[in-house]
Amino acid sequence: MKKPRIAVLGATGVVGREITKITDELGIEFEDIKFLSSARSAGSKITFKGREYTVEEAKPEVFDGINIVMASAGASTSKLFAPEIVKRGGVIIDNSSAFRMDDDVPLVIAGVNDEDLRKHKGIIANPNCSTSQLMLVLEPLKSFGLKTLIVSTYQAVSGAGLAAINELRDDTIANLEGKTFENKCFKKPISFNVIPQIDVFCDNGYTKEEMKVVNETRKILHLDENTKISCTAVRVPVFNGHSEAVDIEFEKTVTPEEVREILSNAYGVKVIDNPENYEFPTTRDASGVNPVFAGRIRKNLAFNNGISLWCVADNLRIGAALNTVRICKRVIEMGLF
Ligand SMILES: NC(=O)c1ccc[n+]([C@@H]2O[C@H](COP(=O)([O-])OP(=O)(O)OC[C@H]3O[C@@H](n4cnc5c(N)ncnc54)[C@H](OP(=O)(O)O)[C@@H]3O)[C@@H](O)[C@H]2O)c1
Repeated sequence: MKKPRIAVLGATGVVGREITKITDELGIEFEDIKFLSSARSAGSKITFKGREYTVEEAKPEVFDGINIVMASAGASTSKLFAPEIVKRGGVIIDNSSAFRMDDDVPLVIAGVNDEDLRKHKGIIANPNCSTSQLMLVLEPLKSFGLKTLIVSTYQAVSGAGLAAINELRDDTIANLEGKTFENKCFKKPISFNVIPQIDVFCDNGYTKEEMKVVNETRKILHLDENTKISCTAVRVPVFNGHSEAVDIEFEKTVTPEEVREILSNAYGVKVIDNPENYEFPTTRDASGVNPVFAGRIRKNLAFNNGISLWCVADNLRIGAALNTVRICKRVIEMGLF
């Protein structure tokens, strides 16, 4: 198997650090690796596989000879560098929202729609974090016919980057000490609060984050307009790990027992569901590990053929870095660079 020359773009950020860690964990074999950031962090050091690397400033020429770039440096940075990477014959696996809905860009969850990778023209997009964990749970149930999907998210602050993590910590401390705190990352104070707004509002009253779940789910699972999807995305004062309450109406009859059995055998999913012993997944189970956890699987009382469930996952892993590195692994295995 050909070994690629790899670059991690945004290596000093929350997602970039996870990408670096998981590249080691998944045993990605490479010819060479480099770590890139903006001018701000250029010159800082990253230790990877026992060797110290100096972070370089991202400029077009640093991508010369690079085969695969794992990018998590924001949409404007991806828009700036993707054409430069592709022009040089490289493939970019992008975590930002820049290209997700472009027709000629595959939007991929590894293990769900790997075959879409074959259509790439140099850019591969990684879905939004709240969509990502949902896909691993929904794909195994798709054969029952997805008629209606209602998703409510409870999203951790790590999904908004390093500054947001610091804001939850500092706001909490200030609050407990009776001091005032000026929130910058969030529109409302995040400590001891629940905020029903992530990203900007669209004309239809939904937020952009909610519409990402709707549109990206359709694209990844190849669903048409007959599947009705709605989402409410909420930020909660949790450092890491997104939770989702999911209500699904199916075309065909399916029992909670069948769903439990199917998800127990599904790729990337772990079921914790023993209500009699108060066993169900929480964000603390998910933070720092790879599975998407599912539980509270029950018959939905509002739909004819309905199931309700709860799923939690590490948003920095399956919602971003883990999926990026898994895609990188597939691209190498499938010889797509
Ligand atoms: N956090 C999540 O759960 C999550 C999930 C899915 C997708 N994403 C996406 O992943 C991206 C990064 O998120 P994050 O949470 O890791 O943010 P972050 O902690 O703020 O890190 C941003 C990274 O991008 C680098 N960067 C910024 N501007 C750059 C430029 N002009 N050129 C080169 N590098 C630049 C930063 O370098 P410096 O250190 O030099 O500033 C840093 O390494 C975003 O697009 C975000 O939407 C995040």
